[in-house]
Amino acid sequence: MQPMRNRQWILERRPNGLTVPDDFSFREEDLQPPTLAEGEILIRNMAFICAPTIRNWMEPPGNSLYPSIPLGSPVRGPCAARVIASADPNFPVGSRVCTFSNWQDYDVISAANVLVRTIPDGHSFIDALGPVGMNALTAYFGLLEVGQPNKGETLLVSGAAGSVGLNVAQIGKINGCRVIGIAGGKDKCDLLLDKAGIDACIDYKSENIAERIAALCPDGIDIFFDNVGGAGLQTAIDNMAKFGRIVLCGQISGYNADEGEEKIGNLMRLIYGGIRMQGFLASMYADRFPQAMKQLAQWIDEGKLYHREDVRMGLENLPTTLNALFDGSNQGTLIVQVSDEANETA
Ligand SMILES: NC(=O)c1ccc[n+]([C@@H]2O[C@H](COP(=O)([O-])OP(=O)(O)OC[C@H]3O[C@@H](n4cnc5c(N)ncnc54)[C@H](OP(=O)(O)O)[C@@H]3O)[C@@H](O)[C@H]2O)c1
Repeated sequence: MQPMRNRQWILERRPNGLTVPDDFSFREEDLQPPTLAEGEILIRNMAFICAPTIRNWMEPPGNSLYPSIPLGSPVRGPCAARVIASADPNFPVGSRVCTFSNWQDYDVISAANVLVRTIPDGHSFIDALGPVGMNALTAYFGLLEVGQPNKGETLLVSGAAGSVGLNVAQIGKINGCRVIGIAGGKDKCDLLLDKAGIDACIDYKSENIAERIAALCPDGIDIFFDNVGGAGLQTAIDNMAKFGRIVLCGQISGYNADEGEEKIGNLMRLIYGGIRMQGFLASMYADRFPQAMKQLAQWIDEGKLYHREDVRMGLENLPTTLNALFDGSNQGTLIVQVSDEANETA
């Protein structure tokens, strides 16, 4: 194997709010073909998904599921990749996987850490991060397993026009719910009403969420799927129906905030109402991913699940692209393509 040219993003300092270029350095160097230990694979990264939680990993060590990224180390990120050398018989050369890697072209990882062991033929690396990717799987398991929707129930979704949210809203419709979205701006609300077919949308940037929820949910909210946290979560708690379920998926409103999480109150309401509030991680359902990916693909084929990807080009643009999640300028699942081969489907 020839030496490989490897480009890489290094975290140089802890960001303050949105990331800025000086928080990172960009390195480029020749990489000699590595000697793999048993169970290791060498991957060529094809595309990275920008996940809001990457911003959490840039914080000092603390309350994060995955370890804080040490200063001077590459930035970690979820990606779709092809195996180009292998010391694990389960992952022959040519295998296509989704995994955590670093923001770089090539990486040696433990095969045990692979999240999606096989990207099905017919799906590109971009598809594996988008329409049937981790965010779609998050929506699928979060709503169906944690939210447990029933026909006729009122489902409220925050961050509804985003990657996870758009899937939740539509899977809610597929399951017979009355779906209300919360999103930033008229364009996003129009998309939810027109393309996702939801029943109502609250534009939190121009409308009063509490007043709109009270008007739209006179009998209370049966399921609140929360991607945002903060004031919206509090308003939902104040308006939950008896035996309602609050699905804690993410808290994006707090990921850039220095002052920490907002405090949530009125929790006696959960007791009096028999209301369940439960967090989850999509990875908790990893053994069922193949079956869920099939179901998502079928809904897409049947025209029941609209999806959109915001694909930006070039590894060199990863840090600036991540910020789009926090200023709301991403138009769907935010993906950075880093190889010309990212659209290959086998
Ligand atoms: N539990 C899990 O396993 C899991 C897995 C994946 C993702 N997540 C979580 O799911 C959530 C959505 O992630 P995603 O990747 O699908 O991102 P996304 O929704 O595609 O993009 C983020 C969106 O969040 C909204 N937003 C950003 N800052 C906000 C703020 N301060 N207040 C209100 N809205 C804000 C913006 O939409 P607007 O323009 O509408 O403001 C932005 O477009 C995140 O909280 C993420 O951490 C959880």
